Amino acid sequence: MTVRVCSSGIFGIEEHAVEVEVDVASNGVPVYETVGLPDTAVRESRQRVRAAIVNTGFRMPRRRTIVNLSPASLRKVGTSYDLPIALGILGASGQITAPKLQQTFVVGELGLSGRLRPVRGALAMLIGARARGVQHAIVPANNAAEADGLDGINIHAAQTLADAVQIVTGGEIPIVCPPSRRQQPCSSPEVDMRDIYGQPLARRALEIAAAGGHNLMLYGPPGVGKSLLARALRDILPPLSRSERLEVSCIHSISGLLRGTGLVQRRPFRSPHHSASVAAIIGGGQGIPSPGEVSLAHRGVLFIDEFPEFPRPIREALRQPLETGAVIVARARRSVRFPARFQLVATMNPCPCGYYGDSSRPSRCTCTDANIQRYRARVSGPMADRFDLRVPCHAVAPDDLLNHACGEPSAMVRARVAAARKLQRQRYDNESCHSNSELSGEQLRAACSLPESSQRVASRMLSRGLSARGFHRILRVARTIADLANCDSVKTHHLAEAFSFRTDM
Ligand SMILES: Nc1ncnc2c1ncn2[C@@H]1O[C@H](COP(=O)(O)OP(=O)(O)OP(=O)(O)O)[C@@H](O)[C@H]1O
Ligand SMILES: [Mg+2]
Repeated sequence: MTVRVCSSGIFGIEEHAVEVEVDVASNGVPVYETVGLPDTAVRESRQRVRAAIVNTGFRMPRRRTIVNLSPASLRKVGTSYDLPIALGILGASGQITAPKLQQTFVVGELGLSGRLRPVRGALAMLIGARARGVQHAIVPANNAAEADGLDGINIHAAQTLADAVQIVTGGEIPIVCPPSRRQQPCSSPEVDMRDIYGQPLARRALEIAAAGGHNLMLYGPPGVGKSLLARALRDILPPLSRSERLEVSCIHSISGLLRGTGLVQRRPFRSPHHSASVAAIIGGGQGIPSPGEVSLAHRGVLFIDEFPEFPRPIREALRQPLETGAVIVARARRSVRFPARFQLVATMNPCPCGYYGDSSRPSRCTCTDANIQRYRARVSGPMADRFDLRVPCHAVAPDDLLNHACGEPSAMVRARVAAARKLQRQRYDNESCHSNSELSGEQLRAACSLPESSQRVASRMLSRGLSARGFHRILRVARTIADLANCDSVKTHHLAEAFSFRTDM
């Protein structure tokens, strides 16, 4: 007898339907074979499935058993086919009668005892299955929270193979709520802006960056609070919208970062170390490409602390996703497109010793001119051009430090950022643009049209060697500054403030 179970696989970030066909012959030599381009993990499922079936109280058929994963042309990887294969074997050998099995979507990794383990990418798989019209799905209990709130498909959470058997044989399938609805740890501020002394310029830049999603570079001597400021950004970012939550959660689910927790609630804030490989940052790697840090930071922040310390291939590889909002990892057989619409926040010192231009002690810098030039050249012209806001940070004034002259708390800044983002949402309703930093072409012309009086200021800026990209970036920042001031149109002083943030590093 042949039984079919619907399941799915992930290639990169794309989900595709996989049908698990199991045929148990009525006679013949007792062999077990898996066909349909399985990788090692899929081939090894045989041992897990056999032990799980026996330990759940069933028996492994002693007849010719063929498992076919179709379409046979696609490579099948991972452990998510264990559960559909086990249910298929039980159905095809006549040990269970499950008329609804063929219409039920099934994924899950089996342990030897029959206990189910979570799989990567369950959320993307369930969204794909729903799009194909599947109404019932069985997933491991630890994956069920990912699908919390996914409308239009009934999710049945199973702890063990026995649970899954009960669900598919129980006639009317009971709808089981996910047992774990744990949310990701909620936002207790890591760094509150109240605890940062001085740095009024950098604080203003941080607010603008959060309100419009702009790229930010903070540079200055050691110990003045650059990394502190960058980390404070996380807490003033606006929350993710529902569609953004699903987008981000799909990527995190595929990377195995959503174990037992619900959808991602906070904007991602990724801070990779400079020893990371290009594949870890950009995406790719051995076998089927996986998302890199730029994709894990999608709709959030990629924080590159000590930017010049990152190897040149990584620094330059960031240029393309910053422009297009995506990374394409090309493979001989098939390319994968990973979304990577992130906001880049970086910090650096002005020279190798860190003290060049330190106003508090001008003679402290020990670097030669050549060393300084070499160090600064690590931020190439095209890369520097992509930073909308380039902000010098100076040593905190002794009085500010001694008198604890701290600024506004994050909560107040967050409220202004949220109001500015609301204006953007209303303005770009039904458009593909989420924030001012994404404005392009016609949208940019419409949202940032300059009054007659500003045209002269703009042409003076352009005559100072500003690139077209640089000018467009200034326009987008000026739009955000106008939004923070609740102003319908971009005025000359908004443009001037935006221009003042494009200092030479
Ligand atoms: N402006 C500031 N307000 C409050 N604390 C500060 C400030 N600047 C520095 N500090 C204190 O110094 C520590 C180090 O600051 P931070 O790591 O941000 O320095 P940095 O500018 O990134 O230096 P480096 O260039 O060496 O990376 C902070 O954890 C904090 O305790
Ligand atoms: Mg630092």
